[in-house]
Amino acid sequence: MRILVLGSGAREHAIILALKAEEAGHELFAAPGNAGIAHDATLVTLDGTDPAAVTEYANDENIDLVVIGPEAPLVAGVADALRERGIPVFGPGKAAAQLEGSKAFAKRIMESAGVPTGRAVRAHTRAEVESALDELGSPHVVKADGLAAGKGVIVTADRAEALAHADTYLPSGPVLIEEFLAGPEVSLFFLSDGDHVLPLSPAQDYKRLRDGDEGPNTGGMGAYSPLPWLTERFGGEADFVQLVTREVAEPVIRQLDSEGTPFIGLLYAGLIITEAGIKVIEFNARFGDPETQAVLPRLLDPLSGLLLAAASGNLEDHPLPAFAEAVAVTVVVASEGYPEAPIIGREITGLDAAAAVDGVHLAHAATAERDGALVATGGRVLNVVALGTTFAEASARAYRAVAEVSLDGAQYRTDIAARVRE
Ligand code: AMP
Ligand code: GLY
Repeated sequence: MRILVLGSGAREHAIILALKAEEAGHELFAAPGNAGIAHDATLVTLDGTDPAAVTEYANDENIDLVVIGPEAPLVAGVADALRERGIPVFGPGKAAAQLEGSKAFAKRIMESAGVPTGRAVRAHTRAEVESALDELGSPHVVKADGLAAGKGVIVTADRAEALAHADTYLPSGPVLIEEFLAGPEVSLFFLSDGDHVLPLSPAQDYKRLRDGDEGPNTGGMGAYSPLPWLTERFGGEADFVQLVTREVAEPVIRQLDSEGTPFIGLLYAGLIITEAGIKVIEFNARFGDPETQAVLPRLLDPLSGLLLAAASGNLEDHPLPAFAEAVAVTVVVASEGYPEAPIIGREITGLDAAAAVDGVHLAHAATAERDGALVATGGRVLNVVALGTTFAEASARAYRAVAEVSLDGAQYRTDIAARVRE
């Protein structure tokens, strides 16, 4: 197939690497991609958020499938335009993508679908914020009601800090004050054809910048998959996945369909396993980053077949995706100053030595080639991904490779998958 992937991060690199590994031998195109992706796909200069430009390109170049990586093209209506032209696309239309783009919309869908989630109050004024903070209690959870790349959320016991965070976002619209949910987090991805869903293997993301879950929220600093500790509570990964499929994914997909906004693409369920059961903290309308980098290397089925089946309404006939026994750990290397003000343009070296570590490969997040050197072009720069038979082995490999990477001021967490290493 001729497949176009929109986006430029490590998630898109992971998708491209999975497609490239298939026996079928696809022709891969990425817009805009990055310096790492350039080794695995043909880079295309194209505004990925321009529905007309993407549709024209896909049509002229006889693209068989478009895979939308990030949220911005979804919210811009790129999938709608492609679908209208009859071009298979993996990614929801603008209306269904509101599941990610608007936290208020997501809450309403969950309520209608009877999906378990925390209590939330939508506040339009400072006075409403204050009374919601008092009603829902500490720790306080304050969220911007729009796309903020995982950075619009604050969780704090400090009321003044919660108020200050709300003040930042109030001028541009309402904020959500949520009930704090305590427990481990799980990211579970579902492929959806609008009607049927197929689950992938669960992963855990590390949202905070520093070890021990300290520091600000980020887009995600690392991940691992699968989650062996799910077995203690749910009997096994398959039981957990089945439960979330039945109680979360299927009702949400049915609800969206019944409202005339079918969701075709990747439903990302961000879950917290509380004492009182599984609760949804958020949905995303696309693959998670960095979880995808830990999930896709374990996928045994050809990814293109799954994405195309979803894009063309044929998931019902597709068997459950199978995953390798091998475990995966991904560590994000970020620029100094990330997430507030990443310093970009610095040279990054040592990647060949890193990639030479047994079981390791690299997924580039924000790199470009300048005058023969590789430079960082964003906050999250690189994902070091390691496979192994145990988490001890995979994380040792990942960190051996991270040690080979040189980037001035680089930040990374040293405790990715620590809880499952023994
Ligand atoms: P979100 O952008 O909604 O995914 O939130 C980012 C991160 O903030 C989540 O991954 C959680 O770690 C944390 N968080 C968000 N909402 C809650 C909540 N209601 N209770 C506890 N932690 C939360
Ligand atoms: N890893 C969090 C996200 O993709 O939103």
